[in-house]
Amino acid sequence: MKTLILNGSPRADHGNTQLFIDHFQSGLTQPLLIRYVLRENPTTLALEMNDYDTILLVMPLYIHAMPGIVMKLFEAMNPHPTNHKKFGFIVQAGFIESSTARYLENYLSSLARRLNYTYLGTVIKGDAAACSILPHFFFGKLFKQLKALGSEFEKNGSFDPVIVKNLGNPVHLSKFQVWLLESRFIKQLNQIGWNWILKRNGCFENRFDRPYL
Ligand SMILES: Cc1cc2nc3c(=O)[nH]c(=O)nc-3n(C[C@H](O)[C@H](O)[C@H](O)COP(=O)(O)O)c2cc1C
Repeated sequence: MKTLILNGSPRADHGNTQLFIDHFQSGLTQPLLIRYVLRENPTTLALEMNDYDTILLVMPLYIHAMPGIVMKLFEAMNPHPTNHKKFGFIVQAGFIESSTARYLENYLSSLARRLNYTYLGTVIKGDAAACSILPHFFFGKLFKQLKALGSEFEKNGSFDPVIVKNLGNPVHLSKFQVWLLESRFIKQLNQIGWNWILKRNGCFENRFDRPYL
């Protein structure tokens, strides 16, 4: 089985998507080729994807959907003449609850079928925005799950349903979680975190800019 991993993140190899791919790959005995949608011509990449039996597209959730570079790639794809090819997706997101990626999941399952691929499913993991910011020990459990996902994928050519279910939890926030997230303390903590990121990127002073006005 010839499998290609596509990294669909606009941050290419220095974002959270890459971390997901690295930990998925750590469960494999043979590392898979990775290509970065950002660095490719969509038409050429869409053609070259035909050389693979299975495509695994790993990407971040952007505005409840896919990044624009991934959309461009989809638009360059044509239905495959045979139905022997497989397409699977791993979507990681900032919001905690996986239900926020369900619209995208529905889109991806229809897309795969319209392109004549067998749909392998969409793995969704929320609460992943800080993966590449915080020390890695905060994400030890997630990284183990991704390794196991990779290992099972190599053995069976599919996503393990139990791991997928665990990664997708919580699907919805509980009333308590909503209350906690709306509390002053968490909001202030969040603000400190965002301000730190803004300062680190040299744009703290411009945080209230409205360039389109
Ligand atoms: C432009 C933009 C839009 C985003 N939209 C969403 C969103 O709608 N829902 C969500 O849960 N996370 C959203 N996020 C958070 C990303 O999904 C999250 O930070 C992800 O880990 C980024 O992966 P990357 O480092 O590979 O880009 C957004 C991030 C950016 C930069």
